[in-house]
Amino acid sequence: MYSRIAGTGRCLPERVVTNADLEHVVDTTDEWIRSRTGIERRHIAADGQTTADLAEGAARAAMAAAGVTAADIDFIVVGTTTPDYVFPNVGCIVQDRLGAHGCPAFSVEAACSGFIYALSIADRFIASGGARCALVIGAETLSRMTDWSDRTTCVLFGDGAGAVVLKPAEEPGILSCHLGADGAYRDLLYHPYGVSRQQRPGETAGPYIHMKGNEVFKVAVKTLETIVDETLAANHLERSAIDWLIPHQANIRIIQATARRLDMPLEKVVLTLQDHGNTSAASVPMALDVAVRDGRVQRGQLLLLEAFGGGFTWGSSLIRF
Ligand code: COA
Repeated sequence: MYSRIAGTGRCLPERVVTNADLEHVVDTTDEWIRSRTGIERRHIAADGQTTADLAEGAARAAMAAAGVTAADIDFIVVGTTTPDYVFPNVGCIVQDRLGAHGCPAFSVEAACSGFIYALSIADRFIASGGARCALVIGAETLSRMTDWSDRTTCVLFGDGAGAVVLKPAEEPGILSCHLGADGAYRDLLYHPYGVSRQQRPGETAGPYIHMKGNEVFKVAVKTLETIVDETLAANHLERSAIDWLIPHQANIRIIQATARRLDMPLEKVVLTLQDHGNTSAASVPMALDVAVRDGRVQRGQLLLLEAFGGGFTWGSSLIRF
């Protein structure tokens, strides 16, 4: 038994903040942001709009595309690092709103790799007969933990949610998922405030995303090259077999490096970072949904999804759509 993607969806906040808007917030320019990152604009949640709101919107869109109702859903997993509450988890909130009561619902905290981790878990449940209709969501409101006075980070991030419905199939479907992590790099990209850990005397780091961008960049490029090679080797595939690369949308230069490793022109890479910025766990499912809905991604094509983020965590998934 395999799992296959039966439908995709996304939900973005209405408010769009352009690079030109950010020129009035911090000492930056549209030219710097575009040339260093590829980002042109991002969506930012309205006051009171939460990760669960966006997750619910993406879930409803994916369910409509898959032709399933709440009664069909028997498994909900959400990748997020910006939950509404410590608990209940975002999956439980979405489950209640959809009226899909009783099925397991939980969140996975793996930063930007959260959706790939969640997809991998749901795939294994379906493949082993433990679930028959899974909702897999990546949802974030990163704007809530962004320091809007720090030009080195605030220009990068955005809010949004993407979702897929996974169902059993006799043919793959999801061919393989590959996950990894290395906690030794935790100081390069982190948010210092949790529930359990208290600030130590003298610590000044505020409750925001802290990042050594340059160093993250180098490890991201190397790690993504390795995982792409590992995914192809595990499936005995040549690089030319991939129809679409659907990468985590952090930086155009990181994406270009991965595309080069695959010997792929950028025309075969789904890019949404110009419109969405880096939305962490939401970026891959939103990019997938964009390319499905605009007709680029077709049934039967081979897709390579990949992500890298805080932890560090990383992951990939090879999918016959
Ligand atoms: N506008 C204008 N100048 C800026 C700026 C901004 N928004 N942000 C930083 N700068 C300045 C820096 O202060 C620095 O100035 P200096 O040379 O006078 O010190 C200069 O630009 C270069 O900064 P640097 O950090 O070396 O730039 P970079 O080329 O590494 O680009 C990132 C910065 C963040 C875009 C890039 O490192 C990156 O994308 N890293 C990976 C991030 C990532 O993927 N994170 C998430 C993983 S999920």
